[in-house]
Amino acid sequence: MQKWIMSTLFFGACTLAIVLMFTMNAGPKGAAKQEATMPEVTLDTAAAEATLKANCISCHGNSLEGGVGPNLQKVGAELDEQKLYKTITKGKGGMMPSFKDKLKEEEIANVAKFLATKK
Ligand code: HEC
Repeated sequence: MQKWIMSTLFFGACTLAIVLMFTMNAGPKGAAKQEATMPEVTLDTAAAEATLKANCISCHGNSLEGGVGPNLQKVGAELDEQKLYKTITKGKGGMMPSFKDKLKEEEIANVAKFLATKK
């Protein structure tokens, strides 16, 4: 009976160790990947405009004509969606805030896609 308990415990510990090894390995790698790659989304213009209205126009102007932040009306000519995604996620300089904790990745991706069409 005791031997049975011992081997169960041993087996359990091994399983836990293996699971931990995998999750710890996946952790930082997964985070780095998440930062670099934009999630696949289908452009939803109405949602992008709503996100911009709620989060961006205070600095970039009602029609994105610029204010505290630069004019974004033709930002798609300079930055592609990946670069836009990165800028919005991480912020820029001391003034452009990071939206990593304020918006969902999909929302940022959608806004990035929308702005990328502005050429
Ligand atoms: C608190 C003011 C503020 C808010 C809010 C803000 N921005 Fe900015 N943004 C700035 C400033 C200032 C810059 C210029 C930063 C620099 O170049 O150093 C900037 C730069 C940018 C750039 C880079 C433009 C370029 O030509 O390099 C993009 C893209 C951008 N903002 C998008 C957004 C989006 C999208 C939102 C809303 C989700 C947003 N910003 C919200 C102030 C703001």
